[in-house]
Amino acid sequence: MSVLKTTNLTKKFGKFTALDGINIELMKGEVFGFIGPNGAGKSTTIRVLLGILKATTGEAKIFGKDAWIDAVEIHKRIAYVPGDVNLWPNLTGGEVIDLFVKLRGGNHKSRREELIKKFDLDTSKKCRTYSKGNRQKVALVAAFSSEADLYILDEPTSGLDPLMEQVFQECVLEAKNAGKTVLLSSHILSEVEKLCDRVGIIRQGKIIETGSLSELRHLTRTNLIVKTKRPITALHEFRGVHEVVENDAGLSFQVDSEELDLIIKHIGQFGILKLESSPPTLEDLFMRHYENKGGVS
Ligand SMILES: Nc1ncnc2c1ncn2[C@@H]1O[C@H](COP(=O)(O)OP(=O)(O)O)[C@@H](O)[C@H]1O
Ligand SMILES: [Mg+2]
Repeated sequence: MSVLKTTNLTKKFGKFTALDGINIELMKGEVFGFIGPNGAGKSTTIRVLLGILKATTGEAKIFGKDAWIDAVEIHKRIAYVPGDVNLWPNLTGGEVIDLFVKLRGGNHKSRREELIKKFDLDTSKKCRTYSKGNRQKVALVAAFSSEADLYILDEPTSGLDPLMEQVFQECVLEAKNAGKTVLLSSHILSEVEKLCDRVGIIRQGKIIETGSLSELRHLTRTNLIVKTKRPITALHEFRGVHEVVENDAGLSFQVDSEELDLIIKHIGQFGILKLESSPPTLEDLFMRHYENKGGVS
């Protein structure tokens, strides 16, 4: 069942096109990673989905309803965490959490207490005194203690330390296991790799790649380190072999996934002493996109 869907979504700010035909769809129960460099259009997409910005053309639907027209109704069922949380300076963290949870009509005191403990948050301080990381925690506790069907998280972990990043990941997986849907925008690829079923890569307002992590990996390269009895010859004559480096560990290189079979057969003739392979990381894929298309914007 489709929970969130955009169709040819565009957003212009004056003459500048921030979103240029965005198509993404999230199915119920999935964690979708929305990744791209700064300025790519992640937050703009999310603001349109939240009904904060009106799309120039195209459609944004959540729970089958229009993100702009039906915003009030949609908001009863979503929780949102922005990357830079601004809170009421004179309320304490605890008061803000209570307020958010009340606004959403839920009352899950035990869940709230559990999350406050997990995130190691001192809720008695005025928000004015909180660091960025602590403001982030307030928003995360509020979001994950509410009974939402869809969590929209826009770079929610900027400012969290690694220990809290871990707690955050547990929260996302709990939500997923409870059948909730999560849109997670991020530029932290390891986070996305750990949590997401599918990802969409956005660059300069366009989705340049979308699919499951394994589908995306298929497009990319496997890293190999090989030691053989006899020196490998003619490796460079094969298509799909990249970045060949000889060092103490052996011969290390990358192979396009579709050429892997041929390459393994070839090196097999030289008497394999050692063969290490590691799958391409999302980072590799991501960087390749920028190499091919003219650098990180
Ligand atoms: N209100 C606005 N007016 C003009 N330009 C904007 C506005 N909001 C965002 N932009 C521009 O749109 C582009 C996408 O921004 P944004 O969606 O915030 O990117 P991301 O969240 O991926 O870092 C950027 O070039 C940004 O400067
Ligand atoms: Mg942003």
